[in-house]
Amino acid sequence: MRVITLLLNSILPGTILLSHAFKAHDFKTCSQSAFCRRGRALAQRASENASWSSPYHIDAETVSFSPSQSSLTARVTSFLYPEIHFQLQVDILKNGVVRVRMDEIGGLRKRYDEAASWALISEPALRDDDLNWVGFKKGKKGGVVKAAYGGVELAISYSPLKITLLRNGREEVVLNGRGLLHMEHFRNKPNQTDEGEERPSELEGEGGEGIEGTREQTVLKEPANGNAWFEGEEKDGYWEETFLSWTDSKPKGPESLSLDVDFPNHGHVYGIPQHAASLSLPSTIGANPHFSDPFRLYNGDVFEYDADSPVSLYGSIPLMHAHSAESTVGIFNALASETWIDILGSPTNTSIATHWISESGILDLFILPGPTPDDVFAQYASLTGTTPLPAHFAIAHHQCRWNYVSSDDVRTVSKRFDEDDMPVDVIWLDIEYSEEHKYFIWDEKTFPDPVEMANDVASVGRKMVVIIDPHLKRTSDYPVFAEAEAKKILVKKANGEDYEGWCWSGSSAWVDFFHPDSWEWWHKLFSLTGKTEGWRWAKSTDTIFIWNDMNEPSVFNGPEITMPKDSIHYGGWEHRDVHNINGMLYHNQTSQAVMRRGTELKRPFVLSRSFFAGSQRFGAIWTGDNLGTWEHMAVGIPMTLSNGIAGMTFAGADVGGFFGNPDVEMLVRWYQVGAFGPFFRAHAHIDTKRREPYLYNEPHKSMFRDILRLRYSLLPMWYTAFRETSVTGLPLLRPHYVVFPKDTRGFAIDDQYYVGSSGLLVKPVTSPGAETADVYLAEDEVYYDYFDRQVYRGAASGTTVTVPAPLSKIPLLRRGGSIISTRQRPRRASPLMKNDPFTLTIALDRSGTSAKGDLYLDDGETYAFEKGELAWRGFRISPEHNKKNSPLVLHSEDLVTLHKGNDVVDGVQIKSWDPRNAFAQSIARVYVERIAVLGLEKEPKSVNVVGGKGLEWTFSKGTGAKGKKTGVASALTIKAPGVLVVEDWQIRIEL
Ligand SMILES: *[C@@H]1O[C@H](CO)[C@@H](O)[C@H](O)[C@H]1NC(C)=O
Ligand SMILES: *[C@@H]1O[C@H](CO)[C@@H](O)[C@H](O)[C@H]1NC(C)=O
Repeated sequence: MRVITLLLNSILPGTILLSHAFKAHDFKTCSQSAFCRRGRALAQRASENASWSSPYHIDAETVSFSPSQSSLTARVTSFLYPEIHFQLQVDILKNGVVRVRMDEIGGLRKRYDEAASWALISEPALRDDDLNWVGFKKGKKGGVVKAAYGGVELAISYSPLKITLLRNGREEVVLNGRGLLHMEHFRNKPNQTDEGEERPSELEGEGGEGIEGTREQTVLKEPANGNAWFEGEEKDGYWEETFLSWTDSKPKGPESLSLDVDFPNHGHVYGIPQHAASLSLPSTIGANPHFSDPFRLYNGDVFEYDADSPVSLYGSIPLMHAHSAESTVGIFNALASETWIDILGSPTNTSIATHWISESGILDLFILPGPTPDDVFAQYASLTGTTPLPAHFAIAHHQCRWNYVSSDDVRTVSKRFDEDDMPVDVIWLDIEYSEEHKYFIWDEKTFPDPVEMANDVASVGRKMVVIIDPHLKRTSDYPVFAEAEAKKILVKKANGEDYEGWCWSGSSAWVDFFHPDSWEWWHKLFSLTGKTEGWRWAKSTDTIFIWNDMNEPSVFNGPEITMPKDSIHYGGWEHRDVHNINGMLYHNQTSQAVMRRGTELKRPFVLSRSFFAGSQRFGAIWTGDNLGTWEHMAVGIPMTLSNGIAGMTFAGADVGGFFGNPDVEMLVRWYQVGAFGPFFRAHAHIDTKRREPYLYNEPHKSMFRDILRLRYSLLPMWYTAFRETSVTGLPLLRPHYVVFPKDTRGFAIDDQYYVGSSGLLVKPVTSPGAETADVYLAEDEVYYDYFDRQVYRGAASGTTVTVPAPLSKIPLLRRGGSIISTRQRPRRASPLMKNDPFTLTIALDRSGTSAKGDLYLDDGETYAFEKGELAWRGFRISPEHNKKNSPLVLHSEDLVTLHKGNDVVDGVQIKSWDPRNAFAQSIARVYVERIAVLGLEKEPKSVNVVGGKGLEWTFSKGTGAKGKKTGVASALTIKAPGVLVVEDWQIRIEL
């Protein structure tokens, strides 16, 4: 969170009133960042020079292969600096991913090479045990080496260096095809005559010209030599750079990395979150005035961000998908330093050229060969992991505000939800619960009884989330700071002293979570097992979970509201090298701490604002401090989709917008958006009016209640979807290109999406005054309105249908062929639903005979599921035989048993799966209370449980049968079928 004025807190001794007018110009544009200027200038020279050719080449005699021929190493040299060498290594990994690494050999200094090791779950294995494996082979003519495997071919040309991935002879990914690769080697700083002055002969003042305060004050002219065509004439910002009032000392000098990554034959690129932009990324070179700068990845606390811009936000994932009707490919560029990405679409939209410019780090790039979006998800998940199955409460409804001001305020909020029959699982506390923003320490004036408060909230099944931020108030009476200082685990300034900056707690220090000594110490702070050494949170309970905000990190008086780049982390690395990873390490350690705090491991919940590739392993994120405007509501959807395709699928935008006072229409629509996002939290700034949903009058109050209850009734669907993503890495929210990769008309659609594999298609309304919504249907399939069984028919060539969308209704369709399990009894909080019965709704496909779906259940809080304590049920309806008027049979099946024969089901080791495991037993009496079948062609003659009794049912004839474009679907309702959810059974519908 951010405020324009840091509130004067009279408790703070020596308080300073910080006044910021945060504006876009607090953050750099490319032209204000020296290495970005250099990178873009290189691209400019290349585009203006018809005979441009990369100076980088492989020294042919140095090429060698690993014994399995899946790894190539070679020495690379640039013609411009014959004495400087680089080591290139190209690995073909087990899953077909290509890893390309390059680093300077014996450089004056060392480039940061650990970004991938933080992002990856483990060191990926080489492809070598494949029977038909034929690895790298030198071409007959020399000058090129090739490897063909798994339907693709990798070709590495020596001079100029170029790496191409081909499929069926078609180029898919090309590295350095345009010759923009430049790894600036380490150099010696030019000698200075006396203190601080550079040699006058090479000085050229730039004074106040250009953008104010942005250019380095001095520019050295390259002595006339042959390099200028490539590196340019100016040594622009090599050794020092100023921005506004900050000077970045650059003791290591220039070390940027530029690389062109082109996607011939692919017209759309997606990913590289987080930006407030469309899912299909626009060109940054061209006419669009919003996108004249490259997309930037540099985690920042961006105040009141623009809803349509390439400006970097709180998290960075350098993963990009490139897509065409023929194939999807991806690249993961494992760099943790500030990175800018130019995107240039071809005029015919059939190819995309990208240019990645990073400030530091080795080249460590993964080519994900696809060829489908699902393959790319699996390949990326095999590298960086998936979202683990969250604690069940975490997928329910969260209520937050800066701030619920006292423990009684919290009790009242919890009670008010009950009085108005609105379900909520979690009440959140922002920073004001803590004494002087010394996190872990409750402000006893307002929160005298935190344990009793948490227990009161927990008595109706609810949890709390409390914020712990990374800035530590620098005062010796704050034990967390004092211990961190004594342990020497604080981030350092360039001169080696502990870094000091300003944040909520006033003068603050930051723990260096790159320092392994910080890990156990941090875990112990959260311990619930008693007064062990290092235990700091006496007043907590196991129903209190954690929120990590401000972890970019946000530093109010730092350059671009963050830490100076020349600050020093563990191992001597500069902050510039690790900036984008910083927030992930904090998130990880808090997550580990919460997981281990009790006597038994429990699934943690930690929300983070900052993130990087791999952060999905540690919890959820939200899209930061959005505004209560329609534009921000709308852009939250593509932002969540983009995060999802980059692995960070447990994400959501603050419902209602953090800033401002949305009117009630906007708020109702926003709850509809939130209820169909993975992370569903309402939150508001301290200056806003209270806007908890129970505060509103009818008819809106009922609309809020209905949407909250809808979320709760669908929690089994959401939990099942989370199980799937935890195994496959497929996003929870699936954009059109993911579900229909060949349908070109859907490639740019990002305002409607499917939820998991449930078949739910959502098109939230994000503009005022809507009465209808247009929904695009990409296939020849029947869709059913979720609420009134209205039928919509798609077409193979794609078609748009108009769906009623009055304020009370979110446009929500069931895809024909799906079965969804819901729980329809309203409860105050999700744990109270554990023994509630299920309703199965079967949406028959266009043939009127088939559908399927699954349902996953476990205890929702421990890791017992990894030992097989779970129920995973499949429901499937299909004709009994192929003849006309065949009876339909609905099967309830144990999906784990169906997978038997594999010793691993979904990554879970199930050696001796027991369908009567303790968890399944605990819900043995949970039954199906209702089954609805939509879209039967005719009224059944009878319905009975196979081997059992006849069932009671009603049939409502439809008007939207086959051949009709629209109308209402027929509905067979089976009441009280008496079947149990964890048992196998069949129900036969005689037609
Ligand atoms: C700078 O000076 C040192 C010694 O004074 C000398 O060894 C070195 O070569 C000089 N470097 C350059 C780049 O002129
Ligand atoms: C997460 O923390 C564990 C130790 O608690 C550590 O082994 C692991 O490397 C960390 N990973 C990241 C990405 O921080």
